[in-house]
Amino acid sequence: MKIILIGFMGSGKTTVANVLAKKLNLEVIEMDELILKSSGRESISDIFSLDGEEHFRDLETKIAKKISTMDNVAISTGGGVVMKGRNKNLLKTGNIIFLKTSFKTLENRLIGDSSRPLFKDREKAKKLFNLRQNIYEEWADKVIITDKKSADQVVSNLIKYL
Ligand code: S3P
Repeated sequence: MKIILIGFMGSGKTTVANVLAKKLNLEVIEMDELILKSSGRESISDIFSLDGEEHFRDLETKIAKKISTMDNVAISTGGGVVMKGRNKNLLKTGNIIFLKTSFKTLENRLIGDSSRPLFKDREKAKKLFNLRQNIYEEWADKVIITDKKSADQVVSNLIKYL
């Protein structure tokens, strides 16, 4: 079994991946963590500021290639993985779940979070959010709305679908 969680920053991909993995006895894979390890940098923000976003996206695709061969995993992707069409078939090797969260909820969760370079500017983040919604929907095999739901509730919805 291979579950791939997609969705905007703050939609709960990492938390849900961990709860799901425990229930189904899967290994958790955090794409951002693997990207960071492969980069030689100390933080995601450093990759963006020192190497630029395109370099980050190249590393992200390399990791997407790696995960395309994995099995028995719950994968938490970075919110921007859908920005490159080349990643689609790599993710389609698993069951893609879109954790859909309203911008208002995301904003409340991410206020004051300095680890997300693309959420520093609210207006820019809102534009990215609007731009990506259709792509998340299009890539997903299943959409789960997460507003006002706990991670446990999201995972029960997900398991029912599986
Ligand atoms: C990004 C989301 C981040 C991380 C990077 C870029 C994006 O992951 O990959 O900061 O473009 O939305 P999370 O969705 O885990 O925050």
